[in-house]
Amino acid sequence: MNDIKDVLGLQTNTDAEELVRQKKCIEAAKSIVDEKAGDMGRKLTYHVTTFGCQMNARDSEKLKGVLESAGFIYEDDELSADFVIYNTCTVRDNANQKLYGHLGSLGAVKKSRPDMIIALCGCLTQEKSAYEKIMRSYPFVDLVFGTHNLFDFPRLLVSVLTREVTKGKGHIVSEIWEGTDRIVEDIPVKRNYPFKSGVNIMFGCNNFCSYCIVPYVRGRERSRGSDDIIKEIEALAADGVVEVMLLGQNVNSYGKGLEGEISFPELLKRVEDIDGIKRIRFMTSHPKDLSDELIDVMASSDKICRHIHLPLQSGSTRILKAMNRHYTKEGYIDLAQKIRDRIPGIAVTTDIITGFPGETEEDVNDTIDVIEAVRFDGAFTFIYSKRTGTPAASMPDQVSEEKVKIFFDRVLAKVQEVSTRQAALIEGQTMDVLVEDMNRQDQMLVTGRLSNNLNVHFPGDASLIGKIVPVKLTECKGFYYLGDMI
Ligand code: SAH
Ligand code: SF4
Ligand code: F3S
Repeated sequence: MNDIKDVLGLQTNTDAEELVRQKKCIEAAKSIVDEKAGDMGRKLTYHVTTFGCQMNARDSEKLKGVLESAGFIYEDDELSADFVIYNTCTVRDNANQKLYGHLGSLGAVKKSRPDMIIALCGCLTQEKSAYEKIMRSYPFVDLVFGTHNLFDFPRLLVSVLTREVTKGKGHIVSEIWEGTDRIVEDIPVKRNYPFKSGVNIMFGCNNFCSYCIVPYVRGRERSRGSDDIIKEIEALAADGVVEVMLLGQNVNSYGKGLEGEISFPELLKRVEDIDGIKRIRFMTSHPKDLSDELIDVMASSDKICRHIHLPLQSGSTRILKAMNRHYTKEGYIDLAQKIRDRIPGIAVTTDIITGFPGETEEDVNDTIDVIEAVRFDGAFTFIYSKRTGTPAASMPDQVSEEKVKIFFDRVLAKVQEVSTRQAALIEGQTMDVLVEDMNRQDQMLVTGRLSNNLNVHFPGDASLIGKIVPVKLTECKGFYYLGDMI
């Protein structure tokens, strides 16, 4: 127990010292977990439930890495695990509601299994009103931490396993930070796929789009050092990874504010040089910062995938201004056209919000114009969700539900029309597919992805998973393909 108090209390001054401390905490957690497992006559189990974006998916791999290093084994069923952690999202209200639904079910289970440990982390915990609701309405939660202290999970795990440190209300171990300068490298990671991986290149966001809560819950933009990123990708390649997805809220501003650092296109070139990496993806690109240099690097690359996700949000210049997006309808169309001209075969996908305050039918017409002009290969369409504390939440003219529904349906129908047309353009061609999984419905088929991000299903077996193989695209099914391996 004395050892445990030592690691919990240690102060560290550098990221490297912090890593040493976290590793000690993992060892301490492991000795507690092993002892419990001995008493129970079985291994302790964990389940991680992830909400939200790729950033959260990557963070969850870190949570899993820590839990497995601490002696837990994975349990597929959330309701029967000994340790359940929710990595939360709060970008739209439905993400919050989904979490509350899960918590409700888990609360009922915990009544009969009081030893179960329930933890919450991620973006929602950083939002004051949501945090207060959890403290008030879900007192059975054991551990709450935020996005800035994810690296501190090993220490918090020891705390909750021993209940030595209890801050916050009742017996909940709760630590939320306002921000951090720390970037702690090399916390253990358990990847969801052996052959592909997300790689954080930056954290946070400085853009403050007026509807968006991400900058408030993820903090200011911070880039990782390029040498650290390259080292991580080299290690991934040595471990069998062939595809990396570089992650940031606005990858085009990578390196800004880091003394002597390289730009995003230069980073891509360095990743391109890594042996073993065959495909490079990235997300997300903000249109306002997308440079000609990036287009050049993509055009001349053999490894960077023929896909760019370029969130439009709205096609109306007036609404874009109110959204604080810093581009116009025409500017966006020109940019997308330039990308299509210079990189033949590239898929351009997007995000669109309908129902932003003040949006009218004319604004929606502008959005429809852009969808037609750009011919998006895919789009996520969202209904505007009011996020407390963002500038848009207090704007006048919030759009009525009935109107939003009409706007949303129009946008969705147009997106589906153009994207099915786009998908059909490559029917009959033979293209490389990275095989990702067995098909869920039909065990005779495998499922993989084209460079342009379309899914393809074709006859094959599990030995193909992780391999890149040529496939003839025989039948377009709208937003995916059926094919045959050549
Ligand atoms: N950083 C990325 C987006 C991250 S959030 C970018 O700027 O492109 C993912 C998407 O969620 C956004 O592109 C936007 O379309 C949507 N979104 C964000 N806040 C929203 C809100 N309040 N209501 C509805 N959709 C929202
Ligand atoms: Fe949100 Fe805008 Fe930042 Fe994207 S760029 S995370 S939409 S504030
Ligand atoms: Fe959600 Fe946070 Fe991502 S709010 S969309 S999980 S950055």
